[in-house]
Amino acid sequence: MSGCRVLITAGPTREPIDPVRFISNRSSGKMGYAVAQASLEFGAEVCLVSGPVALSPPESARLVTVESAREMLAAVLEEIPTTDIFVATAAVADYVPAVVADQKLKKTEDEMTLTLTKAPDILKTVGHMENRPFCVGFAAETQNVAEYARGKLIKKNCDLIAANQVGDGRAFDSDTNALQVFWRDGDYVIPRQDKIQVARSLMGLVAEHYQQAQTDTL
Ligand code: CTP
Repeated sequence: MSGCRVLITAGPTREPIDPVRFISNRSSGKMGYAVAQASLEFGAEVCLVSGPVALSPPESARLVTVESAREMLAAVLEEIPTTDIFVATAAVADYVPAVVADQKLKKTEDEMTLTLTKAPDILKTVGHMENRPFCVGFAAETQNVAEYARGKLIKKNCDLIAANQVGDGRAFDSDTNALQVFWRDGDYVIPRQDKIQVARSLMGLVAEHYQQAQTDTL
């Protein structure tokens, strides 16, 4: 992958409710950081757009830190013109508070309702761009993994989608992972092992499919 520019999103996003509270999720960022490390080992140039995590980025990766889905989208769009391969590992919020309070919300009522609106879908936005990079998505599912992952491959217009089963302590914050990678007319299983090993297998598959796509467009 020498000369190849890989852009990776990683970690969770934080969606503010007021100056002291936010909505987030259990993503540790470990899978995304492992994909960054593996891409560097393959000789790629790496930009890592990361939500808040407790990890050190690989030394030769360029790190862009963000908090919210909107910030992550803006950072990604800035990098896209110089990106060959986009790998979306981030656990981006699906819904964000419709209004962010300027002041800390006070505990006045017995119940409170928070109105949420849809967050921008970063992978879908990039997937449908003209002259888009080669796109690799992730699909975190608790059930019907293959069916939902294939649905996302089509809906988000990706080249590959790496699906994993989550829940029961699997994947989130774990040091190991297992993936089933789907493309239009095939799939490949990466067995459970350390996330860095999984990332190496994944990037091997990505490199193969990326090169094939390059050859097909010649
Ligand atoms: N993704 C994204 N922007 C979002 C939501 C998801 O870029 N706002 C990306 C993720 O980084 C991942 C893929 O889309 O590569 C699928 O994410 P996932 O959470 O599995 O699916 P969702 O699209 O959020 O759908 P659902 O929550 O209904 O399963």
